[in-house]
Amino acid sequence: MLDANEPTPVTLTVNGKAESARTTPRTTLADFLRHDLGLTGTHLGCEHGVCGACTVRLDGTAVRSCLTLAVQADGAAVDTVEGLGATAGTEDVLHPLQQKFWEHQALQCGFCTPGFLMAALAALEEDPDLDRDGIRERLSGNLCRCTGYAPIVDAVAEYAEQLREARS
Ligand code: FES
Ligand code: FES
Repeated sequence: MLDANEPTPVTLTVNGKAESARTTPRTTLADFLRHDLGLTGTHLGCEHGVCGACTVRLDGTAVRSCLTLAVQADGAAVDTVEGLGATAGTEDVLHPLQQKFWEHQALQCGFCTPGFLMAALAALEEDPDLDRDGIRERLSGNLCRCTGYAPIVDAVAEYAEQLREARS
């Protein structure tokens, strides 16, 4: 029988980099990312699947990392907010969706932002033609206490438009 306290090896790819660590079978993916891998960009709010702050992508799909066990991600590809930006020389460069959040002031305290970014990217990859209503619906599982949501929808809608223009 599996011992919930017995460290178990977990090997996965995080933001394109192979990672491996031992963790208990009951450790959530959120805690694994934050404590075992030091990736604290994934935030924990409610810790029971309500707020969406902990959203990451697991093999491309947006998941609540507070409700996903680290062992469930064994062998998978995980994308977190830390993988979005880039470095050009000595400069940090925002991902285009992060840039839209910046331009639209779609964040205030920023606590919810990593979850919104990962949820929006997954949604637009699944349906690049999402309109504003579709964006609202797809982001309805992510809570923000600061912005009133409108700037977030504006930012994602403008990024979606940018993607559509690049396709045409
Ligand atoms: Fe995971 Fe709130 S911390 S949904
Ligand atoms: Fe503060 Fe969303 S910016 S919770």
